[in-house]
Amino acid sequence: PQQITCSSAMDTLALALIFLFQFNGQSSCQEGTRPNIVMVMSDAFDGRLTFDPGSKVVQLPYINYLRELGSTFLDAYTNSPICCPSRAAMWSGQFVHLSQSWNNFKCLDGNVTTWMDLLEANGYFTKMMGKLDYTSGSHSVSNRVEAWTRDVQFLLRQEGRPVTQLVGNMSTVRIMRKDWENTDKAARWLRQRAASSHKPFALYLGLNLPHPYKTESLGPTAGGSTFLTSPYWLEKVSSDLISVPKWLPVADMHPVDYYSTYTKNCSGAFTEAEVKRIRAFYYAMCAEADAMLGQVISALRETGLLNNTVVIFTADHGELAMEHRQFYKMSMFEGSSHVPLLIMGPEMMSGLQVKQLVSLVDIYPTVLDIAGIPAVLNLSGHSLLPLLSKSTAFSKKERPHWIFSEYHGCNVNASTYMLRSGRWKYIAYADGVSPQLFDLRLDKEELHNVVLRFPHVQAQLDKLLCSIVDYPKVSKAVHIYNKKAFGDWRNSLGRNYSLVIANLRWHVDWQKDALANERAIDKWLYVYHSLATSPNLQVDK
Ligand SMILES: *[C@@H]1O[C@H](CO)[C@@H](O)[C@H](O)[C@H]1NC(C)=O
Ligand SMILES: *[C@@H]1O[C@H](CO)[C@@H](O)[C@H](O)[C@H]1NC(C)=O
Ligand SMILES: *[C@@H]1O[C@H](CO)[C@@H](O)[C@H](O)[C@H]1NC(C)=O
Ligand SMILES: *[C@@H]1O[C@H](CO)[C@@H](O)[C@H](O)[C@H]1NC(C)=O
Ligand SMILES: *[C@@H]1O[C@H](CO)[C@@H](O)[C@H](O)[C@H]1NC(C)=O
Ligand SMILES: *[C@@H]1O[C@H](CO)[C@@H](O)[C@H](O)[C@H]1NC(C)=O
Ligand SMILES: *[C@@H]1O[C@H](CO)[C@@H](O)[C@H](O)[C@H]1NC(C)=O
Repeated sequence: PQQITCSSAMDTLALALIFLFQFNGQSSCQEGTRPNIVMVMSDAFDGRLTFDPGSKVVQLPYINYLRELGSTFLDAYTNSPICCPSRAAMWSGQFVHLSQSWNNFKCLDGNVTTWMDLLEANGYFTKMMGKLDYTSGSHSVSNRVEAWTRDVQFLLRQEGRPVTQLVGNMSTVRIMRKDWENTDKAARWLRQRAASSHKPFALYLGLNLPHPYKTESLGPTAGGSTFLTSPYWLEKVSSDLISVPKWLPVADMHPVDYYSTYTKNCSGAFTEAEVKRIRAFYYAMCAEADAMLGQVISALRETGLLNNTVVIFTADHGELAMEHRQFYKMSMFEGSSHVPLLIMGPEMMSGLQVKQLVSLVDIYPTVLDIAGIPAVLNLSGHSLLPLLSKSTAFSKKERPHWIFSEYHGCNVNASTYMLRSGRWKYIAYADGVSPQLFDLRLDKEELHNVVLRFPHVQAQLDKLLCSIVDYPKVSKAVHIYNKKAFGDWRNSLGRNYSLVIANLRWHVDWQKDALANERAIDKWLYVYHSLATSPNLQVDK
């Protein structure tokens, strides 16, 4: 395939987040009548479970409640399928290449202005609880080193192989303790603090579920590859409706997808029963997350606050649960990139199924619109309120007919750019990696890359993509950042380097030939030095 380059000389990377306020003539809300806003954000919830046919496989009564009384987005996407960058986009309203939120380690500065900050500055009583994860510096050392070294010419398994674990009995309800503690806290805050507030309030609750649990048997550095639940939740799953996803033969896989499968420790054999069991446990974990959403809704209902509160349910990304021979996210396939988005509130439509393509960057302008706060310039998204509101005061402003998602982190060895428009999903890479094109109307399972059959569609979508982001330039910036960040980390370790790198979570494979792996890194870093001294490229600080 030909090497694709964006011709326009956009300088999107240099864009700083500047807030300019302009009066938004559409805001009809007056002080005193502004609705409360409650958002519950889960972690790794496959959006396709919130509408048919996906919603039939597991009982999710509170998501169904939101679906009946509010609106369900049928095509909502993450702007980056991994925790921290996705949340960075949601909280800043900016695509991740604009804030350079490259991986779970490098995201936003703590001082960035989130929509919650603007709500507070505009008279809202605000509270955030549970998982936030949008600022730089978090996640394990393994996680960041795997992201930095993804271009090194080695292939090492980094994750535990996905497994299931059944705990407790038919009366074991509260499994993810931390989430339940935060949910209790949120419900208490609504009953005790919010109910007596004279100001409108905004509450954010971040859940860990249904993200898989750490696999304890693999030691202290292990990632999360255990799907864990109890018989109580497993009973909510209709096992006869669990599909066994089709996989391409390994030889037909796209090389970048194969890299993901391998580093996620999924290249071995799995029986059909094993795959089904992983999926059943994942769905059961979704049911437990739904019950937490239920506690929040119940607290709102019992305090009489629900009828003046906008409730939003979403997730940072999905979970592949063995689709495409993978678990976790980090992929543009539907299981990973399609997120739930349900919104219910006063003066909003009931039972609406929204077909427009939307993404998490739309939340920022939506919340401002709901609160009647003047719009902020240079956000990457667009308010969803015109799609939801019963009011005709909203001009049904033109929305873009596309959404954009990108990925620059670990378990994927080339920066990935995804454009969805109409029936098409276009996935492009720089670095000479061949693109993918899926027709989601005919190929829901995304098994047929038709990029060679529809060159005119590819050309059109690539042109559109280039008008959004100069992606070869972004990929270059990420390569340079990765080498610089890795080099600095290595220098900081001094003589301890060999020992530390050999004991990260890839240790089983690393130690089979530690010297060869170190040499592969040296070779890759050497190319960095020639790149860094090239006059056209600057090292990202
Ligand atoms: C936010 O913090 C970063 C680094 O911590 C700093 O470079 C930047 O100038 C700060 N921005 C604002 C608006 O204070
Ligand atoms: C990958 O899976 C194998 C087989 O279960 C296991 O022995 C190995 O420790 C796993 N690798 C990592 C990095 O967890
Ligand atoms: C379920 O487990 C709990 C806690 O271990 C135990 O107290 C209870 O007796 C068990 N119930 C049944 C029906 O086995
Ligand atoms: C990604 O990894 C796969 C599997 O090792 C390899 O075939 C492919 O060439 C790699 N792609 C890039 C861009 O490094
Ligand atoms: C909401 O319900 C409460 C009590 O159920 C009622 O007093 C209040 O007027 C209602 N508010 C709105 C905006 O409908
Ligand atoms: C907003 O973005 C446009 C185009 O990307 C740019 O030209 C303009 O300077 C930006 N304005 C602000 C205030 O950042
Ligand atoms: C190397 O490791 C030792 C023991 O863990 C520690 O005390 C020392 O500070 C480390 N040296 C460097 C340069 O990081």
